[in-house]
Amino acid sequence: MRRQHLETFQPVCPVCRAATGQIHFLELATVIKEVDDHIVEGLLHCSNIQCQREYPIIDGVPLIIRDIRSYLSENVFQVCQRTDLSETIESVLGDCCGHGSTLDAIRQHISCYGWDHYGDLDPEESPVDPKPGSMLRVLQHGLELSELKSADLQTVLDVGCSVGRGTFALAEELDRPILGVDLNFPMLRIAAGALRDGVVRYPRRRVGVVYDRREFPVTFPSAHLVDFWACDATALPFVEQSVDAAFSMNLLDCVHSPMEFLAALGSVLKPGGSAVLACPYDWSSSATSMEGWLGGHSQRGPGAGASEPVLRQLLSPDHPQSLTTLRLVVEDNGPWHVRMHDRNVVSYDSHLVVAQKCS
Ligand SMILES: C[S@@+](CC[C@H](N)C(=O)[O-])C[C@H]1O[C@@H](n2cnc3c(N)ncnc32)[C@H](O)[C@@H]1O
Repeated sequence: MRRQHLETFQPVCPVCRAATGQIHFLELATVIKEVDDHIVEGLLHCSNIQCQREYPIIDGVPLIIRDIRSYLSENVFQVCQRTDLSETIESVLGDCCGHGSTLDAIRQHISCYGWDHYGDLDPEESPVDPKPGSMLRVLQHGLELSELKSADLQTVLDVGCSVGRGTFALAEELDRPILGVDLNFPMLRIAAGALRDGVVRYPRRRVGVVYDRREFPVTFPSAHLVDFWACDATALPFVEQSVDAAFSMNLLDCVHSPMEFLAALGSVLKPGGSAVLACPYDWSSSATSMEGWLGGHSQRGPGAGASEPVLRQLLSPDHPQSLTTLRLVVEDNGPWHVRMHDRNVVSYDSHLVVAQKCS
């Protein structure tokens, strides 16, 4: 965690806000380990004397999550997972734990996003199609549609940043402090490693539970503008109307409540601020219960079950169910790939939407 980002983004205590609606800023209470300008281990405290909740900073990533006890008890393996084991020992663990294990699920996720985000910088990556970088291409398209490159921005979020390449790209394009937030600790650890050490290290799935270790240096000229925090997209720990723009690539169908996520964006954006969202509408009840899906069911209804009209309605001024905070500005589509293993790349057509916070 960078002190500069703590000052710029001013996180608030998510517990106090949920309980009383009051704003209490988080303060840096303890620094256990600091390397250059990164706090690698430490504690943030709620400044409310009646609360004083602790939010740990682990491996350079502050965990600013409302139910920190549940999060840590459910993710203690991910948080305490060793990163120093050799590829050989990791492969033995992978074989023993087997397909579908927690270790396998972590490695599969990291493999998908490590490849798409950083594969273009990997000297060992094969030059054959499909090439990595599909998220960057959708993001670039979103930047062009939103015309944010010429806007006067102070604070920008990359929500659902995963392993972080989009956050580095936004810093380079916008030349402003960018904060990448996600809830997946192993992915954030890779992002923080690229930021602090300039090295990307991830297991790239070949077949079954066979993963090849990939490790290569990365350099991002605007890395000083980047930081990564663990935060819930549906309960963003920022003051209302404090963020100029938020990018969120392929997240809307991954959160437990898409409506709460849109409401959280609507709350933290400044009037006139922009949200750039991409979504392939790949609904799954493991991520979002069906009641929370935007479309994807009820094909007898007016939109015949499609997702796009539901999002459009939510972002339109004159629909009874519309959000009062965000309005659709422009939309398009863009191809996005998720590489599962050597012989399986899933192709999506991601719906790209630019919305604006109502004044
Ligand atoms: C489909 S991935 C997309 C990642 C990246 N934006 C991209 O396009 O390559 C969705 C990401 O959202 C994150 N995510 C899911 N639910 C979240 C939540 N409630 N808050 C923050 N991030 C979340 C996941 O951990 C994952 O990194």
